[in-house]
Amino acid sequence: MYQEYIDFIVPLAKQVAKLQLSYFRTDRLGIETKSNISDVVTRADKESEELIAKAIFEKYPDHKILGEEGGFRGNEDSQCLWVVDPLDGTTNFSQGIAIFSISIALQYNGETIAGVVYAPYLDELFVATKGGGAYMAYHGGELKKIHVAGKKHLDSSVIATGFPYDKVTNPDNNTKETSRIVPLVRDLRRLGSAAHDLCCVASGILDGYWEMSLKIWDVCAGILIVEEAGGEVLHYRDDRSLSVIAGNETIVRQIEKIISPDWNPNSKI
Ligand code: IPD
Ligand code: CA
Ligand code: CA
Repeated sequence: MYQEYIDFIVPLAKQVAKLQLSYFRTDRLGIETKSNISDVVTRADKESEELIAKAIFEKYPDHKILGEEGGFRGNEDSQCLWVVDPLDGTTNFSQGIAIFSISIALQYNGETIAGVVYAPYLDELFVATKGGGAYMAYHGGELKKIHVAGKKHLDSSVIATGFPYDKVTNPDNNTKETSRIVPLVRDLRRLGSAAHDLCCVASGILDGYWEMSLKIWDVCAGILIVEEAGGEVLHYRDDRSLSVIAGNETIVRQIEKIISPDWNPNSKI
């Protein structure tokens, strides 16, 4: 079920990847800032979204799209909403750091039914359909079923996080949570693409991940991919747009305890 959407999105994502790689590590990035100096956008972000929107409307003229760069467009009465982050990890991309991804998801009546995340430079592809499982392919290989890691203890876990763009002006910026968790895990990563972070959790590359103040386009495909890989995605606070913890059930509970404002460092995890 829903395979037709995956068959449509995967070649599209690979076409967009070619465009992004043609700009990557060149002097033609066209970097501009958005909400503040930390929040950047490049020519590749904008052109990628246009390419994706054009392809979606050519194939599905009655659908609507929510994209990071272009907002809502299309038939507002449609029950089919494409949620698109054309380039997730723009800070990495703009610096020449290889971790960035394209995230495309389809929601029907508010439920995510198909999701694809593709990391162009790493050539890592993650796909999932509702009820159909999650799969990964890399370096042009075959899609293989993926599953979240099975670790039960944080001290042997490698987890990732991220920081919100308003971190300079808002002290509620995940630094307190990070300093609490660092001594309790094998190691912590800030990899720089939320969509790809979630897919690393789905495939067991990371044992867990949490981040606050995300947008729907960062996580729409990735959440489906984690859930279809047998993982849990917990929305741990609702006052800073989307804030999620992902992993297997046990790891999610442990991260939740430690980042909670009333965590007592003397208590057991
Ligand atoms: C960002 C990345 C980053 C996360 C930020 C997102 P963008 O998306 O996913 O890892 O920490 O919160 O906004 O701006 O590169 O599309
Ligand atoms: Ca993003
Ligand atoms: Ca983006």
